[in-house]
Parts: sequence; C-alpha cells; structure tokens
Amino acid sequence: MTTTDLSAWSPRSWRQLSPAQQPDWPNGQALESALAEIASQPPLVFAGEIRSLRDKLAAVAAGEAILLQGGDCAETFAAFSADHIRDKLKVLLQMAVVLTYGGSLPVVKVGRIAGQFAKPRSRPTETVDGVELPAYRGDAVNAVDFTTDARVPDPDRLVRVYHQSASTLNLLRAFTRGGFADLQRVHQWNQEFVAASPQGRRYERIAEEIDRALSFLRACGVDVTNDPTFHTVDFFTSHEALLLGYEEAMTRQDSLSGDWYDCSAHLVWAGERTRDPDGAHVHFLSGVGNPVGVKLGPKATVDEVAVLAARLNPANEPGRLTLITRMGAEHADTALPELIRGVRDRGLSVVWSCDPMHGNTFTSESGYKTRRFADVLAEVKAFFEIHQAEGTVPGGLHIELTGEDVTECLGGAQEIADLDLAYRYESACDPRLNNQQSLELAFLVSEMLQG
Ligand code: PEP
Ligand code: CO
Repeated sequence: MTTTDLSAWSPRSWRQLSPAQQPDWPNGQALESALAEIASQPPLVFAGEIRSLRDKLAAVAAGEAILLQGGDCAETFAAFSADHIRDKLKVLLQMAVVLTYGGSLPVVKVGRIAGQFAKPRSRPTETVDGVELPAYRGDAVNAVDFTTDARVPDPDRLVRVYHQSASTLNLLRAFTRGGFADLQRVHQWNQEFVAASPQGRRYERIAEEIDRALSFLRACGVDVTNDPTFHTVDFFTSHEALLLGYEEAMTRQDSLSGDWYDCSAHLVWAGERTRDPDGAHVHFLSGVGNPVGVKLGPKATVDEVAVLAARLNPANEPGRLTLITRMGAEHADTALPELIRGVRDRGLSVVWSCDPMHGNTFTSESGYKTRRFADVLAEVKAFFEIHQAEGTVPGGLHIELTGEDVTECLGGAQEIADLDLAYRYESACDPRLNNQQSLELAFLVSEMLQG
C-alpha cells in the first residue's frame, strides 16, 4: 500500500507501513492491551474545538492572526504539578499580550502540552562512559535514568500519558475559562522573579496600558468583568504525533460529520525525522481532520513540500497545514527563501511558523545540550525578513519554553553562560527558553510586527 491510496485510510491503516522512530516494545500483547484501554477512554478534545482551531489557523494563513505555539520539549511524569502548568500558561499569556499589543492582531494560543511525551531520536542508543543503552524516547516510552531497566519500553506508560494529559487539560480548561486568563489579571501573569527584570518592567508598562484601556471601556458602559471576550481565552493543545498506536487509539469518528479526528490534541504534527511523504506518519495524519503541522529542516526541498501538501491538504484548505521551519540561524537565509517561493508560486495555502529552536542545538563545552538565545533571535529575525521580502505571511512561532527560571539556553538579558547551565538545567530533552528569555523573544517579534 502507498500513502496515495487514500480510499484505504482507517485509523489503523498506518500499520501496513513501517513507521519510523517507534520503540522496540518488548511485549506486543502488553502494548495492544494498553492501547485497547486507551481506546476505551473518553476523547481528550472534541471535534468542534478542533474545527475551531482550524478556522483560527485559516485566519493566521491570511495574515489576520498570529500563531503562538510553545511548551516543553518533553513533558514528564516528574515535573507534573498545578504550579508547572499554571506557570507555563502564564508565560504564554504574557507573550500573547505582547504580540497582540505589538501586532494589533489576535494571537492563536497553542501549547506543546497535555500530550507531548514522546521523542524522536537521532540515534537509537546512547553511550555514556563506554556503556551503551537504548536512547530515552520520552516518558511515554521509557525512563530517562541511565540504567538498563529504565530504558526498557513499558506500554503502561502510554496509559499514564493519557491520564496525565487528561488532568493537565482539565486544569488548563479551568484556568482559561475560570477567570485566571481574565485581562483584568494581566499583572498577575508577571511572575515575581521576572517583574524586576528589564523584560518584566517593559511588560508592566503594557499591562498598565491595558488597565487604562479597560477602564475606558468600563466608562463607556462595556461590561468588562462579565463579557467572556475579556474574561476567558481559547487555548489549544498540540504534540508530535510520534507513537502511532497511541494516536490511533485516540482517533474517533465525529458523530456529526462522520469525519475522523485525532482526539489526543487539537493540533498534531510530524517531526523532521518522521515527515517522509511516503511514510506511516504522514499517511496517518492524512486521514484525520485536525489541523496538522510538519517540521521542515534545511534539507527540505520544494518538491517534497509539494508532495506533503498534496497528501496532507489535497483540497488546499487554509488552516489545515502548518509548515514549521527549523533551519538554524546559519541556514535560514539560504534554505528558507526557495521553500517560501516554491510554496507561494504553487499557490499552496499554508501557515508558516518559525521554530528557532531545533536547528540551533549543540553540546556546550560543559557537556549540556543547549542553544544560544542570540541564534534563536537571529533565526526569528531572518524568518520575518524573508517573508516580508517575499510578500508572504510570517504566521507565527513554535518555541520550547517554560515558566520556570531555568538555565538551559545561553545568553539573553541574564547573560546565562556555559558554567551557569548546571545551576538549573531541568529539561528531560531539549533546552527551553526561560520566562525572561521568552518575554524578550516576544518583544523582538512584536517590534518586527510593527515594522
Ligand atoms: C521537537 O519538536 O521536539 C523535535 C524533535 O523537533 P524536530 O522534529 O523539528 O527535530
Ligand atoms: Co525539542
């Protein structure tokens, strides 16, 4: 079977292809029984919500909104608490305020959250001091500890992923509907350790202007306290659709339309290592009605992207396909323009989003996987400038970040140096921007949106 054989699509038809990046599950029966348990559970998100995100992304494609997608590289079972979830939401809300203010456009907020537990790896094994073990593939598969036992794939972890995603989403729904995301609380999203920094103070100035605007609206008779426009936000979830068994188990048929939706998240994407147009991941994604993303590294060609678009978005519907470019600062200028022109000249409707993280990763002298904040900024800047030059829409950002005061990426206003990385390096996988760096990035983008 080939991926063009769309009439044969079903949630399990990917099984006829050999999916890349799947764990070596030691016990196939245990895996199938875990997947059956997940398939018997309620969906995490609903078709109507998924369609609403698609509509919002169509607005992004048209340049009428901005996409902000961000969160951990890998969620974990260990770093799971109400505070972690709240702080991640806070930094995304802060960034959204800055972008809305700068761009005078609505921001479509999508977390890498409530399901981002599985990691593709460049190498199937990891060697430390001469000992070689299977790579850590995310908490959905095995444990990060460097022991033989910890690295054995365990399907019970998939069930735990489902339940942790459900409680994460439950809290996110409470926060975003229950008053926490109220624009009248814009000051409270500025965490104490950020407030005194230059970014924190700059944010406060915007927050004060929002206060004044709300007072003005109140004086005009607008019910700012009870109008849901000011009181709630739409917040969507996303993750890489890597473990196809899990995604299949979460795929449900919408009773209204008869269409299939992957109800594990609103948006799901194929990674740089799993975006083969003939591969199982693209085949799976071709059959679900969710908005889908595809990561594109510096080797991606226009022809490849055209085939991906034909498979994933044959009707060329705006909002269905988001192309997430992750070129690396040094390749952006050479790799991006050709892709952008090729897509534009073929009339393909896409959302262009910039992931300035994954092309800029390296191991520092002290041995940490890190990124220079300056490279992150440089790639974002190049992304905006190239789209402006080509007359295309720079739709948004895809960022690895956290609300904590971690030291994982080098530089920024705090001037985090290699020797500082050890101080608070907490990511289970890739280095994330901390709260201050995230805000600094949002201010840069806001300036570019104004320019
Ligand atoms: C990721 O988003 O964490 C990731 C692995 O990205 P990419 O597929 O772009 O390398
Ligand atoms: Co990552």
